[in-house]
Amino acid sequence: MIDEEKLHQFIGQMLGDLGGAASISMVRIGDGLGLYRALHAKGSMTCAELAQEVGVNQRYLREWLSQQAASNYLSYEPASGKFTLPPEQAMVFADEDSPVYMMGGFDLMASLLDAQPKVQEAFKTGRGVPWDDHTGCMFCAVARFFRPGYYNNLVANWLPALDGVVEKLQRGATVADVGCGHGWSTVLMAKAFPNSNFVGYDFHPSSIDNAWAHAREHNVLDNTRFEVAKAKEFPGTGFDLVTFFDCLHDMGDPAGAAAHVRQSLKPDGTWMIVEPMAGDKLEDNLNPVGRLFYAGSTMICVPTSLSQEVGAALGAQAGEARLRGVISDGGFRSVRRATETPFNMILEARP
Ligand SMILES: C[S@@+](CC[C@H](N)C(=O)[O-])C[C@H]1O[C@@H](n2cnc3c(N)ncnc32)[C@H](O)[C@@H]1O
Repeated sequence: MIDEEKLHQFIGQMLGDLGGAASISMVRIGDGLGLYRALHAKGSMTCAELAQEVGVNQRYLREWLSQQAASNYLSYEPASGKFTLPPEQAMVFADEDSPVYMMGGFDLMASLLDAQPKVQEAFKTGRGVPWDDHTGCMFCAVARFFRPGYYNNLVANWLPALDGVVEKLQRGATVADVGCGHGWSTVLMAKAFPNSNFVGYDFHPSSIDNAWAHAREHNVLDNTRFEVAKAKEFPGTGFDLVTFFDCLHDMGDPAGAAAHVRQSLKPDGTWMIVEPMAGDKLEDNLNPVGRLFYAGSTMICVPTSLSQEVGAALGAQAGEARLRGVISDGGFRSVRRATETPFNMILEARP
């Protein structure tokens, strides 16, 4: 028997979901053509004014503006015909430094769609999809997605939550940022702690090229360098701090990586592991954050890990208990949750 009430509720949800999915291309057009930035900088505009401002065709723009107003991304004033990007929406779509800037999330959703044929095939074979096999710029999307969290929290909240680490960084420490991707985290730390030396490692050569470019742009080449290296093999010992930002669960052999970090650290060194927020049980993660992370995990994290040796495939929602297990397997004696945000947990492991 169909419960009409439940059906209506679910159809309502589906309309919202399909509207969100349809907005991936809409929002990325707004970003790509500078439409949000123009509305943010210049204030309310009519379609003709915005078309003139950014130099686009009015007919296309009118359709886009209408979809944005129907989405509650822009507000519309019928009397004046003006569209406005409200300040709250500007934090999400226009202000790159805001803690809730989500354009990277829309880029990432586009990458998940691009990855579908390869991942769908991998469901049948059980084989992985290597990180480098992703098309478009999934790597840029990942970097852009995580940057607001790092920009707003890493130096201000996360490093201070670790025992004695900020003092060492201020005096002059050696730091390895492993799985650094495009190096946002490395550069943020290098800028904040000019007395310390930072090396970013990642096994993906084009990400390392991007990280170098990024370090050059931000003038941190005096204390920052990058190298292509696997987490289980990166060179160097005597590090005061090793950091892993949103990458341990992507690795094929996270326990092997943990053991390698253990021997690379000074006896009083610290391993900082930033991982997506998750509870230990599936039922703890049946929420909007879990919904997004499980999708990213299915399309990117699990295939990446399965394409490597061991293929542990922890998944983006591994949860603290499984992460602790892997970290302890690597020979670390103490692990604690130093701090957290709604999206990340920050673990501190000591030898
Ligand atoms: C989700 S991304 C995170 C990148 C970056 N830390 C950030 O937060 O923006 C995961 C990164 O881990 C890297 N990675 C995955 N497995 C690796 C391994 N076994 N050794 C080194 N890097 C690895 C990937 O190349 C990718 O850059």
